[in-house]
Amino acid sequence: MPEQYLSRTSSAQPGSILWKFLISLSRALDLSYNGIMSHHMRVAVITDKISRAMGLSQDITARTVQASLIHDLGVKTWGDRNILQKFEVADPYTHALEGCRILTDGGDRMASRSSNDRGGGALFGSHAVVILHHHDKWDGGNPTGAKRNAIPIEARMIHLADRIDVLLDESRPFNSQRQEILKIIQSQRGRVFDPELIDVVSDLSKSESFWFDLEQSFLPKSLESNANRDLAGALPFGLVSLDGLGPSLLDVVEALSWVFAEVVDRRSPYTQRHCRMVGDCSYTVAKNLGLSDSVCRELRVAGLLHDLGKLGVSEDILNKEGPLDDEELYMIKRHPYLTYHLLSDIPGFDRIKEWASFHHERPDGQGYPFRMDSSELSLESRIVAVCDVFSALYENRPYRPGLSPEEVKRILVEMAQEGALDREVVDVAVEVLWEVTDLGGVSDLGEVSDLVASTSVNGS
Ligand SMILES: [Fe+2]
Ligand SMILES: [Fe+2]
Ligand SMILES: [Fe+2]
Ligand SMILES: [Fe+2]
Repeated sequence: MPEQYLSRTSSAQPGSILWKFLISLSRALDLSYNGIMSHHMRVAVITDKISRAMGLSQDITARTVQASLIHDLGVKTWGDRNILQKFEVADPYTHALEGCRILTDGGDRMASRSSNDRGGGALFGSHAVVILHHHDKWDGGNPTGAKRNAIPIEARMIHLADRIDVLLDESRPFNSQRQEILKIIQSQRGRVFDPELIDVVSDLSKSESFWFDLEQSFLPKSLESNANRDLAGALPFGLVSLDGLGPSLLDVVEALSWVFAEVVDRRSPYTQRHCRMVGDCSYTVAKNLGLSDSVCRELRVAGLLHDLGKLGVSEDILNKEGPLDDEELYMIKRHPYLTYHLLSDIPGFDRIKEWASFHHERPDGQGYPFRMDSSELSLESRIVAVCDVFSALYENRPYRPGLSPEEVKRILVEMAQEGALDREVVDVAVEVLWEVTDLGGVSDLGEVSDLVASTSVNGS
């Protein structure tokens, strides 16, 4: 099959590309201590069933399923995620509020960059509201102030599906758990959950296939069948304009990538801006190297997503002070490999996937995880690699504070000389990146001994 590039997509594909992208981001959110949990995907399959059974509009069903796929994006750590896996949760609102904010910021950012008023701010607005309310109790007392029908129907469906999923015991056949799960959710009827939705689920769950569809092995297919029906073209992730009046495919991909860059960045106090900085720096270096605007923008997406696989690394390792042991290093070295696989199934992402996930490869073949060398690494992959190191040197790390501009420059040049980074890209980067990066407040007291080695081993 010939390669497809995002910027070349011109047919009716954008909706299905965004749908696949959303599923990949959902899988990234489900990486945790327990491997892939499938929580988001399972909630999406349940809400899809509820919405269709209620005869709700395609627009509502699409928004519900799309929001279901990313509803817990505001969860900061694996530890916080484990807490939410219990049926009764003391504070379900912090992550709901944070998810709403992150999504709104991502949409707003796209709007601020857009030169033709493409309505970016509203892009994720309706999803953000749904996510804000997704733990609201039916009879009120919620920090949002909403109750009963004032809670968006999409949020009410996600709330119920979410709690059904946490009640499911993966070690036993799902359909054998029907009575006990129904008993628990019915005990909260009219208090925590919308009574009408309880009735719909009671009815739907009589069918064995309701439960079989939720099994790990059938789940992707259950979800995929939706895309083949009508969700791919539905509002708003699928609303991509080819006439230049609405948001373009690349606009939405950039905005969603920005959102997920923040989801990755906020897991560690040491990387609060890292992915977003690598995205912006990659764009700027590419511009200065004379690459086309569409390539520069795809490179920004690659930079934003390059550490997506870090969602599969424990924050205990990400934030560890002191040297990592062999097992921890193994987990760190797995993150670009995870990025590669997470971005593998999205049409048009062939290049973005490679540029994003080769950022720890080195021209001298000593990088990881694929051990590629200069004959296999494209200019674009080398750009992301240089920007990754630039950003890592600039930022504080558990094992040393951020470095001064002079030190950053010296180390980048040194790494280029020894074959760790591309020389041409470094030459451009050290000239132009100061203009796009706010270096104010960066400590210039960094201890540089062994820095090159720690950068190439610990990852960034
Ligand atoms: Fe949640
Ligand atoms: Fe959840
Ligand atoms: Fe990185
Ligand atoms: Fe990395």
